[in-house]
Amino acid sequence: MKSFYIETFGCQMNVHDSEKVIGTLLAQGYEQVETPEAADLVFYNTCSIRDKAEQKVFHRLQQFKKESGNGKTFAVLGCVAQQEGERIFERAPHVSLVCGSASYNKLPELLVQLETGNRRATGLSLDTDETFETPLTRRDNPNRAYITIIEGCDKSCAYCVVPFTRGPERSRTADSVLREAGELAAAGYSEIQLLGQNVNSYRDPSPAGFDFATLLRKLGDVPGLRRVRFTTSHPRDFGKDIVDAISENPALCNHVHLPVQSGSTHVLSRMQRSYTRDEYMRRIEWMKASPRQIAITTDIIVGFPGETDEDFQQTLDLLDQVEYDSVFSFKYSRRPNTPALRYDDHLPEEEKGRRLAILQERQRQIQIRRNAAYVGRTEEVLVEGFNKATGQWIGRTSQHKTLNFIRPNGSDESLTGRYLDVLVTRSGPNSLVGEAVQ
Ligand code: 5AD
Ligand code: SF4
Repeated sequence: MKSFYIETFGCQMNVHDSEKVIGTLLAQGYEQVETPEAADLVFYNTCSIRDKAEQKVFHRLQQFKKESGNGKTFAVLGCVAQQEGERIFERAPHVSLVCGSASYNKLPELLVQLETGNRRATGLSLDTDETFETPLTRRDNPNRAYITIIEGCDKSCAYCVVPFTRGPERSRTADSVLREAGELAAAGYSEIQLLGQNVNSYRDPSPAGFDFATLLRKLGDVPGLRRVRFTTSHPRDFGKDIVDAISENPALCNHVHLPVQSGSTHVLSRMQRSYTRDEYMRRIEWMKASPRQIAITTDIIVGFPGETDEDFQQTLDLLDQVEYDSVFSFKYSRRPNTPALRYDDHLPEEEKGRRLAILQERQRQIQIRRNAAYVGRTEEVLVEGFNKATGQWIGRTSQHKTLNFIRPNGSDESLTGRYLDVLVTRSGPNSLVGEAVQ
């Protein structure tokens, strides 16, 4: 039996793609192993969102070439594969297979090509209206499952490689999404996370033609599903009907990740984000007006070309105004093919670094303050596991906050996968601490 090893970089879409690739390989008779050393086939599922992420895979490939590459087959999947294409064979000649996510349907066929003596195989077409459907998905987490609802991206944000690496938008039929959700619930998964580069532009391609909010409501009614999450949203397509669905259905988690990227309308326009700061704030107001307390998180890029000190101050001001529960922040990174590459007012690295540090410190203070307000409250968590080092159980609230807790006078029985009420007793900038309620 042939064996394979796979390492995954990047976002949850990539993590889930790997689960599908693993399922497909197992069904082809391959065996999965835990180290690249033990494998005949080594897969890297790669990310190219920022330069640093892209460098990682070339570093890995180099490392292996020196150490023990002989006799192994190397395959590069995902966003770097799509972006670099056959150039990967020049940069790393020991690679035999290069395949982007829009071509994963062809993986078994490409592997046969290699087995029958071809030195190289590629799957790089973006010209597809298919999604990567596989009933063979191999899921690792026994309680929470990812479900892809839409692949690709039709936006053209000036900084972003994704439209080039994941191809055009394709939605799955609502039937197939609901069937998968039902099967997962029946198999014991209580939480699902819907995935897509822009889930808000979901549109059922079958005659029913459900939009995203309708799909959410239907998923919220699937028996056995206690939590439905989704990521990621685009403010332009984020309608009030989504907030209404969350307000009315407790199975839909009260957490929305709504990437803003910048607090300056001028920068947003140069980013080709197609919304203004005011339009973004209207969406925040819908959420703040919900009877459920909706946690709001975001992504921010600092140091985009042409970002003035005044623009940056507006982003800091937006942090104060929204009071996010958490923020993922990045220095702008130049990406191949993207429109922003051609702008002539790029900022020096040190200035980007300076702004990032200021922004992160400002947000840290906000999170310390916000999380402190949870002390004394009781929150329901889904238990994710036990941390031996701290002696605490790891819980996750519906708002997606980490709530680590102890069980006073408890037994040794495992709590993983259960839902429990936990009293919050302490808080920090990134997590809460508490005690299970008896
Ligand atoms: N440079 C820095 N950050 C980027 N992101 C996307 N492209 C870039 C880039 N070129 C960030 C955005 C996006 C998140 C997934 O990564 O904030 O929302
Ligand atoms: Fe990285 Fe974006 Fe590709 Fe995800 S879609 S792996 S974040 S480049």
